[in-house]
Order: sequence, then structure tokens, then C-alpha cells
Amino acid sequence: MYPEKPAPTQLPILKPIIDRWSPLAFSPKKVEQEKIDLFFEAVRWAPSSFNEQPWRFLYATRDDGDDRMKVESLLVQGNKWAKEAYILMVTFAKKTFAANGKENPHALYDLGCACGYLALQLPSLGLICHQMGGFLRDASNKILGVPSDYTAGTMIAIGYPADPTLLPQELLDRQNAPRERMPRREFAFRGKWSS
Ligand SMILES: Cc1cc2nc3c(=O)[nH]c(=O)nc-3n(C[C@H](O)[C@H](O)[C@H](O)COP(=O)(O)O)c2cc1C
Repeated sequence: MYPEKPAPTQLPILKPIIDRWSPLAFSPKKVEQEKIDLFFEAVRWAPSSFNEQPWRFLYATRDDGDDRMKVESLLVQGNKWAKEAYILMVTFAKKTFAANGKENPHALYDLGCACGYLALQLPSLGLICHQMGGFLRDASNKILGVPSDYTAGTMIAIGYPADPTLLPQELLDRQNAPRERMPRREFAFRGKWSS
């Protein structure tokens, strides 16, 4: 069952946006290959500058032995809970355009958009995800053998949800915390900047 924590929106937005959130209680249960194929298909259809598609995902499942250990070794202490998830990935952006080798200043922007597509596809599959900036970003390329033309963006835990009452109290409190957002007037300005 997908864990319900619907966004308390002020207006009736799309259901996948309402349903997506970032739980902490992951089950180690295997995720079927068809579901992995499906969420990467959602990624494929994200927009990107010059259709460069600079996003890359290096993922390891709990069945992937040493490869998985390497990915797990990148988690900072505060994100070790993510080791429970069946899928753990590091996202990368290609820093240069394939066509001319020039810097692609939009690479991380495009990666973030692709991750958004991924996150929005998952609730329909009964899967949860949690994106993380807390990882050894600078060590990622070396530990995972990724060429220097790629820069790490985030780590993402993906899997089936688990019973949250099994979490340590501190994580349970975070899992149950109310969902909050800044009001629109603080980020959308008509005509003139207002800060
Ligand atoms: C780029 C990025 C980095 C994040 N880093 C972490 C992290 O290191 N640890 C963590 O527990 N959550 C992390 N999060 C999750 C955010 O805290 C979460 O998305 C935010 O509080 C909003 O909650 P919601 O996703 O449930 O709507 C990160 C999210 C993003 C998009």
C-alpha cells in the first residue's frame, strides 16, 4: 500500500503531485524489473536543453553485492536509513554537450527535471522514493568509476514502503511531520521582483 500523506494543497492540482512525498520507512522487498523499466521510461520523456538528455543514473539493488556496497558507502551518517531500500542510485549530469564538447550550463537543471518525472511516476507503481543531497558527492566518481565529464547530483532511494512504526523515534517523527510549503507570494512575482 502506498503510504498516504497527501499534499495539503490550496488548489486542485494533479494527483501524482499530491501523492508524491519523501518517506523514510523503506522495505527491502525486491522491486520487479518491469517497474524499474517503467520509471526509467518516465525519465526518458523529460525535456532538456537541446534534447541533450544529460541525466545518468547509476543504481544498485540489494542483490548487487559489491556494486551495492560501493553505492551505500557514499551515504552520510544521517542518511544511512536509505540502505534498507531495494534500489539505491546516484544521479549524474553530463557536464558537456555531446555535439560540440562545450559546457552545458543546463545539465543539472535537466537532471533535476528528470528526477521530478521519476518521482512523479513512482506512486502509481506503489513505490516510494527519497532524494538525498547528503552523500559523499566529491568521492562519487572515483568510488563508482564514473568519468570526470559527469558530475554527481543526488542519491535516490527507491523501493516499497515499510511499516513506519519500526523506525527509530527520530525518523518516525520526521516521517510523520506535517508537509509545509512557502506561500506562492514568496516565490512568484508578477512584473517586478519582490523580496
Ligand atoms: C536535492 C534534494 C536533496 C535532499 N536531501 C535530503 C537528504 O540528504 N536527506 C533527507 O532525508 N532528505 C533529503 N531531501 C528530501 C527533502 O527534505 C524533501 O523533499 C522536502 O523536505 C520536502 O518533503 P516532501 O518531499 O515529502 O514533499 C532532499 C530532497 C532534494 C530534492
